[in-house]
Amino acid sequence: MSAWVMKAVQYEGYGGGAAALKHVELPIPRTKKDEVLIKVEAASLNPVDWKIQKGQLRPLFPRKFPYIPATDITGEVTEVGKGVKNLKAGDKVVTQLSHFSGGGLAEFAIAKESSTVPRPHEVSAAEAASLPVACLTAHQALTQSAGLKLEGGATDHQKQVNVLVTAASGGVGHYAVQLAKLANAHVTATCGARNIELVKSLGADDVLDYKTPEGSNLKSPSGRKYDIVVNCTTGIPWSTFEPNLGPHGKVIDITPGPASVMTSALKKITFSKKTIVPLLLMAKRENLELVVGLVKEGKLKTVIDSKHPLCKAEEAWAKSIDGHATGKIIVES
Ligand SMILES: NC(=O)c1ccc[n+]([C@@H]2O[C@H](COP(=O)([O-])OP(=O)(O)OC[C@H]3O[C@@H](n4cnc5c(N)ncnc54)[C@H](OP(=O)(O)O)[C@@H]3O)[C@@H](O)[C@H]2O)c1
Repeated sequence: MSAWVMKAVQYEGYGGGAAALKHVELPIPRTKKDEVLIKVEAASLNPVDWKIQKGQLRPLFPRKFPYIPATDITGEVTEVGKGVKNLKAGDKVVTQLSHFSGGGLAEFAIAKESSTVPRPHEVSAAEAASLPVACLTAHQALTQSAGLKLEGGATDHQKQVNVLVTAASGGVGHYAVQLAKLANAHVTATCGARNIELVKSLGADDVLDYKTPEGSNLKSPSGRKYDIVVNCTTGIPWSTFEPNLGPHGKVIDITPGPASVMTSALKKITFSKKTIVPLLLMAKRENLELVVGLVKEGKLKTVIDSKHPLCKAEEAWAKSIDGHATGKIIVES
């Protein structure tokens, strides 16, 4: 391979799943003023990556085809743009690329300095690549949407807050359980039977198997009513959440469909005390820095479902589409 060419994985149009991913050789991209070039060590996949391929986010994403998918990467800076102030060649970093341009499934990727943070040596490449979308979504749900304070308990509640995390074995859910525990919440979680012990080991106080009647009606085994629900799954109607919520219970829906958006609007106009709130991740550099720090300090663990080399990225892609990952799916360059 020449010094100016890199391997990458891309697709040329909507649809086609893993079979539509093509292995190509492309020129290594060049930095603009405020950008850094990263030699990618690892990328993690998120459901949004294959949802973009399916066309579920059109016309917003992608901006154009062919498109190199994946946004959550870590690696070493090899070149910096003229305006870059705080990063230099040789720095290990973690970053979230834009969903407009993608670029993660490649040997090199261009990132904005403004979304890139240093990766301490205590944090492995797979752990770092797992963080941007999944962990920042869990963090935004619990802090910004729910008002909890990590390592300080709730901001406006005296009593321990009761949190329910659905799909707690997934990329977002496994971080949400741990961050809710850092906020001193009592955590109930749902997952499949095979992951119950794992989710308990992440700190969940009560765990429900979602395929049992108790799991599907979300009833707290210890008789609690939930103040906060971080809903990381889909298809649960408001009528299932409602009887399990405390008087001011709030469902934070991270995959809001038409039903939850309608319910949310209805709850607002009827001044309902129980609410459902759609969440869209607005990633912030300082929050990425914060969660990288929690991993460094050993306060936050990443569960890795599987690691795949870039030359077999389609296996990772198919696994993500399958929807049964335990933790994060990693592609190593
Ligand atoms: N709004 C945003 O900005 C934002 C950001 C991030 C993610 N999201 C969305 O959030 C959702 C979750 O993302 P993710 O990365 O956590 O997904 P993921 O890692 O693919 O989730 C897979 C996990 O979900 C579990 N699961 C599936 N259905 C379940 C159910 N009914 N009850 C309990 N567990 C269930 C699976 O367990 P089994 O294998 O046992 O079935 C599996 O372990 C996706 O729809 C994603 O697009 C939105």
